Amino acid sequence: MSKLKILNIVGARPQIIKASAISRAVAGEFRDDIEEVVIHTGQHYDRELSEVFFDELEIRRPDHNLQVGSGRHGRQTGMILERIEDVIISEKPDCVIIYGDTNSTLAAALAAAKQHYPVVHIEAGMRSFNKTMPEELNRIVADHASTLLIAPTNTAFKNLMAEGFRPENVAPYSINNPRVFLTGDIMYDNSLFYADLAGRKKQDFLTGLGVTEDRYVLVTIHRDSNTDDPTRLTAIFSTVKELAERNSIDMVMPLHPRTMIALRNRAPELYASLSEHPLIRMLPPVSFLEMILLEKKAKMIITDSGGVQKESHFFSKPCIVVRKETEWVELVRNGTVRLADADPEKIREAWQFFMEKGSTLQYPGFFGDGKAAMTILREILLVFRS
Ligand code: UD1
Ligand code: UDP
Repeated sequence: MSKLKILNIVGARPQIIKASAISRAVAGEFRDDIEEVVIHTGQHYDRELSEVFFDELEIRRPDHNLQVGSGRHGRQTGMILERIEDVIISEKPDCVIIYGDTNSTLAAALAAAKQHYPVVHIEAGMRSFNKTMPEELNRIVADHASTLLIAPTNTAFKNLMAEGFRPENVAPYSINNPRVFLTGDIMYDNSLFYADLAGRKKQDFLTGLGVTEDRYVLVTIHRDSNTDDPTRLTAIFSTVKELAERNSIDMVMPLHPRTMIALRNRAPELYASLSEHPLIRMLPPVSFLEMILLEKKAKMIITDSGGVQKESHFFSKPCIVVRKETEWVELVRNGTVRLADADPEKIREAWQFFMEKGSTLQYPGFFGDGKAAMTILREILLVFRS
């Protein structure tokens, strides 16, 4: 039987990380059944947002790099759409795999679906119910352009049913008769797979930063609603600084370039005071192994990231999410994620709660068995191998 050809589409940091779980399984258990071609849109291009993950994780190097770079939404999405269409047509895949909710996800979904190539959307069904988030529009369109929708949680599965997707559909599947499939979360695969290695390979990393286990809080902020609004940006970072000082605890902050640029331009005095602060480590983005080590050893996490929020759960850490809402509602219901918006009072309250009750919290397994990539690839073979 001939191999099934998949296009694995990445563009932004978390997609490279997620795609590595698929790449690893293709190179291993599925090497006789699946041929993989990796397309990098070039949405992320700095070494620490892209290359570092290809060096560190077992992901196939891109066969095509579309080099679109940064730009406003329309321009960036349009450039990906135009360039990826040519590659899809020339590669003639059996299916196109997309991840999450970035502009790369949206453009790849549209290009593939309009050329009648079936789309597999990993992380389908996530909803914030806030369409002012660019990601919400991207994920809704991507889901509705897909033939195989891989939902990572029960909530995601139910969200899809509420939008008219039907679990009772039967083969042959198509964009008009899509298959909705519930698996665990693909990011959990990676956190499990790399957690020990991170401990071994990066054991001097914390010492190098001058912090010790359980005596620092990890902070990541990159969402446009927080970086592009000076009031929210200042509220979040001033409160982080205040909490560090009041509690004499270190804050480790690997920051997306977008956040560094925003702080420098929109809050220069605050940026200067954070840069010189003895309790604050403001860093460029770190590698995945460094990141999961930081998560594993932190006292608490403060973030607006989707991925880091989930990883807080994988590593049993309380997490303050500086957004109004989240797609990962299980974590909020579980009491281990608290939504604090960009409100200093809510951030302080959540902090106080976690400092007092942190050790009593439970972290049940909402995200599967850490073998989502294998389950997804088995399903892809069932659905698309003729
Ligand atoms: C994108 C995704 C977001 C995801 C995030 C993961 C969209 C709409 N947003 O946000 O959902 O959570 O990736 O990290 O797709 N920049 C650099 N170097 C780079 C890339 C970007 O400096 O390699 C800077 C540029 O100033 C750029 C800005 O970051 O304008 C924003 O980059 P962009 O790719 O548009 O969105 P992200 O904020 O990274
Ligand atoms: N991450 C990383 N280095 C960093 C910050 C994040 O490796 O400096 C990883 C993190 O562990 C997670 C993913 O990047 O797996 C999350 O990406 P991001 O926060 O950029 O995007 P989101 O998940 O919000 O879309």
